[in-house]
Formats: sequence, structure tokens, C-alpha cells
Amino acid sequence: MIRLGIIGTGSMANTHATNFKNIKDVEIVACCDIDMQKVEQYSKKHCVKGCYSDVSEMLDNEKLDAVSVVTSDRFHHPVVMKALSKNLNVMSEKPLALNSKDAWEMAKMAKKKGVINNVNFSYRNSCAAQMAAKLIKKGEIGVIKHIEAYYQQSWLVSGAWGDWRTGLQWGWRLATKMGSNGVLGDVGVHIYDLTTFIAGTEIVELNSLLKNFKKTPGSLMGNKFDANDTVMTMAKFKNGAVGSIFASRFITGHPNNLKVGVYGDKGAIEVYLNDVRATYEELHICRGDNALKKNSWETLIAPETPNMYQRFINGVKSGKNDQGDFATGAKVQDYIDASFKSDKKKGWVKI
Ligand SMILES: NC(=O)c1ccc[n+]([C@@H]2O[C@H](COP(=O)([O-])OP(=O)(O)OC[C@H]3O[C@@H](n4cnc5c(N)ncnc54)[C@H](O)[C@@H]3O)[C@@H](O)[C@H]2O)c1
Repeated sequence: MIRLGIIGTGSMANTHATNFKNIKDVEIVACCDIDMQKVEQYSKKHCVKGCYSDVSEMLDNEKLDAVSVVTSDRFHHPVVMKALSKNLNVMSEKPLALNSKDAWEMAKMAKKKGVINNVNFSYRNSCAAQMAAKLIKKGEIGVIKHIEAYYQQSWLVSGAWGDWRTGLQWGWRLATKMGSNGVLGDVGVHIYDLTTFIAGTEIVELNSLLKNFKKTPGSLMGNKFDANDTVMTMAKFKNGAVGSIFASRFITGHPNNLKVGVYGDKGAIEVYLNDVRATYEELHICRGDNALKKNSWETLIAPETPNMYQRFINGVKSGKNDQGDFATGAKVQDYIDASFKSDKKKGWVKI
């Protein structure tokens, strides 16, 4: 039995509990949050025995094989480093850290300790994304020329996920003083990861524009809503392709909508996630001379794939790290840091 501890018992921690409880041979034996009321509610809801308000205490008292870190972003680095110092296998929520330096420190420490390490890049759970990556790697669409990707959200206009003006859960995502890197750090990480994963390449140079839109009221508990709401990136990729990557929380009418399109000289692949047009399984492909001539597309249904929680636990069992490791998280953090730098200097930045 793998004995797991959950650190941070807010909203996303429920998704972690549901997924880990679905995996055979995993028991969530302890949970921790700086807010003891939340810990108690969580422990009741998910039948977890050990309750803690201090991470060190939990790590000292419990016999754990692994932890899952689901705190707000700025605590990932200190909490993960503590868990690694205890030689624990660690799954961390995205973003791995708030900057590249911290993220690489975590990746290097995990490697040194020889433990299993994964970042919860949850869109890799999509069968279509996994199949697209495999087909592109096999050369199905030829030499890639263009990549177009976006991550659209509407929660700043829709209110569908609660009131961001007053709720701490959304407020910390809007204020740099509360450790937010804005939309770039929140879902920009997902789309940078998904794009480079599907296209099987890296970003080598980028040019980003960040935008913070005025909001009323302008703060939460005195912390200004000053983090970026929108990022528009032009990117040059290692494989010679050029593309655009866009993320925003002001895309009215689209609660959570992603696209990665990869266009080659022999075909093209498009993956749409959480959009009304598609599911996690549907992959759109234009391939073959006839299809290319007619610009016609077919829809493939991708085979099942393990989710990130299963990949992490499989890794703990087998001792073999699966995809989405800390080094990948740190590489994505390089892109985030480069985007900030580029916006500031108003120009291209090499990675
Ligand atoms: N992978 C995904 O698709 C996905 C989706 C949503 C959220 N997330 C990530 O999950 C994390 C949590 O998001 P959320 O929506 O649950 O936020 P949340 O605000 O609901 O929960 C965060 C919890 O962490 C606790 N916390 C903060 N510092 C702590 C510390 N030092 N020790 C213990 N607990 C601490 C807070 O009290 C809070 O209960 C974030 O990093 C977010 O980016 C990922």
C-alpha cells in the first residue's frame, strides 16, 4: 500500500483525493493545511486520519511514501523542498515554482534524491493530446511550419466559478503580492507545456505582451489585482516552426477552452479541449494527398491513457519516472520567466 499525504486542502485537493482514491493500493493517510478548519472538513469528506496544520509536523509524524502538494502557488517551492529533504516521492501542482531558479532547484534536488517527481500538467490526461504527440513524433504531418495554441477562460466576466472580488481562492490568482504570476503563471504554464509536448519541440525564442485590465474593486485585503490577465506570445521553436500562444481570463463566453493546432507540410493536427466542439478523446486530423487537396478533416477517437495521478503512482510502484517531471516543469518556468522579461524589454528573448 502506498501511503500518501496531501498538503493544501483547498478546492483542487478534492480532485486529487478523488483521483488517488480511484487507484488501487493507494491510501491517503494524512492531510495538512494552514487552515485547520479546512483540514478537518477535508479529512471528514475523504476519510483521512492524520490532520495537520504544519507541514514539518506531518512529515515528521507520519510514515509516508509520497506527498501531493496542492497549496497556492507560492508555497510549492518551500513545501516540495521539505518533502524532498525527507526523500519522499512528490507530485506538485503547477506551476512548479514562481521562477526558474526555484523550479530548477526543485528539479535538481528531486534528481539527486532519486525520487519520483511529477507536475500535475492535467491536460496531458487528454487521450487526444497523447495521441497527437505520438502521431507528430512518427512524422504523420511532416515538417512542422506553424503552431497555434490558446487557453481561454472567462471567469473574470462570467462569475461562473464564484466571486473573484471577495473569494480568497480566486483573489490570490490576481494579486502579485499574494504570489500570483497572473494568467501566465496560472494557465499559461498549461498551454506552454501542452503546446511543446504535443509538437514535440521546445521554445527557443519568444516575444510576449502581458496585459492587466482595470478591475473594480481593485484589491483583496489590500492586495492589488495587478497580475497579468492576458498573455500573447509569438514563439520560435527548436524544430524551425513559428507560432502563437495566447492565454486570457477575459474571453467572454468561454469558461475553459484550449486549442493546440500543429500544421506541417504533410498534414495538420488540432486538439480542442473542454470546448463545446470536442471532448478529451477527439483528435482532428487532415492528412493524405486527397485530404490536403480538399482541406478535409477527419475525427479520430484516441485510445485511453493514464492520467497524471496514475502516472505518478505507477512511477512510485515501478521506480520509473513518467512524463511531466520536475525538469519539464522547470523548462516551462523558463518560458514564463522569458515572457516576463520580453514584456518588460518589449522585444524577443532567447531561452
Ligand atoms: N492542474 C490543474 O489543472 C489545476 C487546477 C486548479 C488548481 N491547480 C493548482 O492547485 C493549487 C491549489 O489551487 P486551489 O484552487 O485548490 O486553491 P485554494 O486556494 O482553494 O487552495 C489552496 C490551499 O492551500 C493552503 N495553503 C497555503 N499555504 C499552505 C502551506 N504552506 N501549507 C499548507 N497549506 C497551505 C490554503 O490554506 C488553501 O486551503 C494551485 O497551485 C493551483 O495552481 C491546478
